Amino acid sequence: MAEREIVSPRPVDDDRVFDEQIRPQRLEDFPGQDPIKDKLRIAIAAARQRGEPLDHLLLSGPPGLGKTTLARIIANEMGVNIRQSTGPVIERQADLSAILTSLEEFDVFFIDEIHRLNNAVEETLYSAMEDFEVDIMLGKGPTARSMKIGLKPFTLIGATTRAGLLTPPLRARFGDTCRFEFYTPAELRYIVIRAARILKVEVDDDGALEVATRSRGTARIANRLLRRVRDYAQVKGDGVVTRETADAALEMLRIDALGLDDMDRAIIRAVIDKFSGGPVGVSSLAVAVGEERQTLEEVHEPYLIQIGFLKRTPQGRVATPLAYRHFGIELPPAGPPELF
Ligand SMILES: Nc1ncnc2c1ncn2[C@@H]1O[C@H](COP(=O)(O)OP(=O)(O)O)[C@@H](O)[C@H]1O
Ligand SMILES: [Mg+2]
Repeated sequence: MAEREIVSPRPVDDDRVFDEQIRPQRLEDFPGQDPIKDKLRIAIAAARQRGEPLDHLLLSGPPGLGKTTLARIIANEMGVNIRQSTGPVIERQADLSAILTSLEEFDVFFIDEIHRLNNAVEETLYSAMEDFEVDIMLGKGPTARSMKIGLKPFTLIGATTRAGLLTPPLRARFGDTCRFEFYTPAELRYIVIRAARILKVEVDDDGALEVATRSRGTARIANRLLRRVRDYAQVKGDGVVTRETADAALEMLRIDALGLDDMDRAIIRAVIDKFSGGPVGVSSLAVAVGEERQTLEEVHEPYLIQIGFLKRTPQGRVATPLAYRHFGIELPPAGPPELF
């Protein structure tokens, strides 16, 4: 695995097999995100009692926090099938109609990256969500005509890392939105211990907490770091993940005490060193660190903002005094203007 991928909150190749083993299957084995779970328990129980499908649901938040996992759990809890697709993969209206017409009653249709649906497909989705109907085109050219086809009632679950990019008409068709929060170190510690149990890795409490605090609030990263630390403990120690082995392994992987990797550090250093603390536009920042703007916005920024190192202002991104302190850099006499 490339260095860069170790802290990526997106899935990388060797995550997949492992994911299947440790993915929670029921709400009760899904640690964290309590406000979302509380709301869902009620919504699921109510829908089941009424014999209706669950309302369409939007899951939003940074990658690696459990959106896909939760969509599957919801289907399990409702006792229905789940069909999974991704915004950019559904290219034509016909692709969408094919999926919709194959759904069974109350099934969950999960669309990941739903903000990336094209317009034509998105519009087809409107009537499917609202009236459980799709228009299907029969024939081609001047003799083509459209026919309405009724669908079985289903639940659409959309996931997005960029809720702000959803069009208002699409957003309006969801009954509810669940916003995922970064996990606390205590929650991640529990997630690490749970994964360790399934993978039969021996980890002590301090070792689990060390991995947890360096996982940038992200379940996927916690699980991945656990595996890397396990390898290290096995080769360099007696196989038990302790604070010392975790610390040594993570240092070797260039992940600092806050879980920041080289790119996170490069971003903050660029704002401070090249743009005098900001404000700097995200495009210029992306060029300065040689990263794609999208990755910057979806992966790095949310966590840097969460830990209070970066602020988004209307003029651009600004490094905070906390960030200066972390890097041991003296604040410029005037300070970043937005913050004083
Ligand atoms: N609350 C959680 N507890 C334990 N593991 C979790 C939790 N949320 C996510 N995971 C694990 O993290 C990984 C990423 O989760 P996923 O649902 O794919 O995230 P997302 O869809 O938000 O990117 C999966 O391996 C999943 O098992
Ligand atoms: Mg996902």
